[in-house]
Amino acid sequence: MPEFMTELVSKKSRIVVLISGSGTNLQAIINACKSNNFPGEVVGVLSNKADAYGLVRASDENIETMALSHKDFDSRENYDQAMMSKIDLLKPDLIVLAGFMRILTADFVNHYQGRLINIHPSLLPKYQGLNTHQRAIDAGDTQHGVSVHFVTEELDGGPVILQAKVPVFPEDTADDLAKRVHEQEHRIYPLVVKWLGLGRLTMVNEEAVLDGCNLPLAGYANDE
Ligand code: GAR
Repeated sequence: MPEFMTELVSKKSRIVVLISGSGTNLQAIINACKSNNFPGEVVGVLSNKADAYGLVRASDENIETMALSHKDFDSRENYDQAMMSKIDLLKPDLIVLAGFMRILTADFVNHYQGRLINIHPSLLPKYQGLNTHQRAIDAGDTQHGVSVHFVTEELDGGPVILQAKVPVFPEDTADDLAKRVHEQEHRIYPLVVKWLGLGRLTMVNEEAVLDGCNLPLAGYANDE
């Protein structure tokens, strides 16, 4: 690796991951962080569900965990403010939503603008929201996939950074498709985190910019 790259990597981004469930994407990012010269480290994991298995994964890696139930708050605004207070104590450079199944307030999104990313199991802008795999099957799609995008105030609507496509076979159930998509998620999410850690990726005027080039609507590696 050229000397200048080594220098860039010598400062690792402080990553906070937000989850609600199993945390396989969290695990993929933790694993990537352990590889040589990866420009980031997970410094905290926050879940809105105390029994999320992702919290066990984080504890096993000696990463600080935070369980903050939205049910203990009387409004979305107050919950998000409480999350921000906890997250900011960790002085994060990057906030990674990895299966965090809550809609975020504009205050939260704007507070972390440009350093807040999400993974969504569809080829955005198709199938924003829930049940994406079943919806792709019901629509008769032959192709489905996953998108990593910057988070903006529009739900699942921020600029796409990278997508991965998978085939849909006629006999597929939603679970089959979810498994196929998950494999791709675990490949592309750490890659995007790496780009951010290296300072190669930014959001400018609500567009994703990689190595100085504005990415097209379907993100990097699109085939248009
Ligand atoms: C992933 O499939 C992710 O794309 C999805 O939740 C799953 C979490 O899996 N996210 C969303 O649906 C966000 N709208 P994991 O807990 O095993 O990483």
